[in-house]
Amino acid sequence: MATSIFSNLFSFLLPPFLFFILLLHSSKNSYALQEKMSTLETKDFHLHVHFIKISSLLPSTVCNSSTKVINKKSSLEVVHKHGPCFASNQDRVNAHSHAEILSQDQSRVDSIHSRLSMNSMEEIDAVTLPTKKGVFVGTGNYLVTVGFGTPTKKYALIFDTGSHFTWTQCEPCAGFCHDQVEPIFNPSKSKSYANITCRAATCNQISAEGMQQGCSSSTCLYGISYGDSSSSIGFLAKEKLTISRSDVFPGYLFGCGQQNQLLSSRVAGLIGLGRGKFSFVSQTAKKYRKIFSHCLPSKDSSVGYLTFGPTKLPKNIMFTPMPKSFQKTPFYGLDIIGINVAGQRAPINSSVFKTAGAIIDSGTVITRLPPTAYAQFKSAFHKWMTKYPRAPPLSILDTCYDFSGYNVIRTPTVSIVFNGGINVEIDYSGVLYLRNESQACLAFAKNKDAGDVAILGNFQQKTYEVVYDDVKGRVGFAPGGCL
Ligand SMILES: *[C@@H]1O[C@H](CO)[C@@H](O)[C@H](O)[C@H]1NC(C)=O
Ligand SMILES: *[C@@H]1O[C@H](CO)[C@@H](O)[C@H](O)[C@H]1NC(C)=O
Ligand SMILES: *[C@@H]1O[C@H](CO)[C@@H](O)[C@H](O)[C@H]1NC(C)=O
Ligand SMILES: *[C@@H]1O[C@H](CO)[C@@H](O)[C@H](O)[C@H]1NC(C)=O
Repeated sequence: MATSIFSNLFSFLLPPFLFFILLLHSSKNSYALQEKMSTLETKDFHLHVHFIKISSLLPSTVCNSSTKVINKKSSLEVVHKHGPCFASNQDRVNAHSHAEILSQDQSRVDSIHSRLSMNSMEEIDAVTLPTKKGVFVGTGNYLVTVGFGTPTKKYALIFDTGSHFTWTQCEPCAGFCHDQVEPIFNPSKSKSYANITCRAATCNQISAEGMQQGCSSSTCLYGISYGDSSSSIGFLAKEKLTISRSDVFPGYLFGCGQQNQLLSSRVAGLIGLGRGKFSFVSQTAKKYRKIFSHCLPSKDSSVGYLTFGPTKLPKNIMFTPMPKSFQKTPFYGLDIIGINVAGQRAPINSSVFKTAGAIIDSGTVITRLPPTAYAQFKSAFHKWMTKYPRAPPLSILDTCYDFSGYNVIRTPTVSIVFNGGINVEIDYSGVLYLRNESQACLAFAKNKDAGDVAILGNFQQKTYEVVYDDVKGRVGFAPGGCL
């Protein structure tokens, strides 16, 4: 039936492409390790270096569910889409090559950069560029499970702070549905499902929010495509969304996806936590007041969390104001001032961070820095690593070491300094990206152009509870949020 009506929308969309990530593993207790390894280091450096057991950096194929630390209501468990805690991956963890993961990360970053440069052009000429808006940046790496419908059925969805629409694969899959873990959502079996008609005002917001809009037998159609070549087309609909027993949202606007491409993972769809009218954050603003937080675990075999609403803040939280310059984009901004290596400020002129600013993104893996900032940072880092032989670059990562023959390695601590004078010390699971013991790379990369926005990626956010507060306009970081 709808196939011919969809075909116009199909032409906007690109073929599918893979996009995934593997997180590294690190030891949890540097002090215990340090004691064991005390012959390796002098005490002067105790507060400014990590000692990391190489074996702890290698991936685990078993989900460690004892890492769950959910203690707040309105919380969901977060798992990595290619880690062993997602039911679909139990027999095929680590099937993805690092070069592939990193080049897909670069595609996402390229689409963020082009989207933001389009946004600044739109301010100059909003009329001639409207169709170019319809690309979203990518689909992220982490999953939560939420309920749709009456009776409620559970679905694993990717959550992403860089996009704003929620959709799930939907029967009858008039175009195409990929394989997913749960049975596909069937609207005819839900009492609370309702299509949105083409005449409804919400239908007309679709194109204003940068998606493709269509109409089929008076049912409103949406089409969304992402920078990593994922896409979904289907009916705009209302449904009951269930986060927890006490957190139920009737009439939640979402996409009932009839033609979907979501990379290789067996995930039902996506939940968008960026800014915008359709965003989960906007639709739940009355209850959650545009506040949410997440903790991404240090290992892809551990469990983190996504928490909604103004819950009690961790005591050790550090806030930095969100710059206003990103308010009209889906992204949450940050103001980076500098980078510390082993407790000392790297010699970076902080004006290089001002040129294009910075954002935080749950879907970008590797943090991107302005070219001159990266050059200074890596040279400061390398000064601490000269005893290790160099290894060849790994895709976008150019500062790599060969640790073969070492049981324990030492790296300097790395902190990012934000406006407000806060120092966010990257967990040691977020300093090195390991292909194997003979190729471990500094897990940061440079932007191509000084005019490109810097991005705080998910690799460097690990173990922090990151709090987004879009009413007070601030982002908070609390160390030790999860394991
Ligand atoms: C699971 O995580 C806990 C907490 O970090 C740790 O103590 C335990 O050794 C881990 N178990 C496995 C099998 O890795
Ligand atoms: C929603 O709209 C589609 C397309 O018009 C139609 O096939 C389907 O039956 C509708 N579902 C409901 C519950 O109205
Ligand atoms: C930092 O860069 C700005 C702009 O290029 C320049 O005006 C300023 O003098 C520089 N500061 C230092 C300390 O080099
Ligand atoms: C690390 O990976 C590279 C590329 O696959 C391979 O050539 C090298 O032998 C590996 N080293 C070890 C120690 O496994």
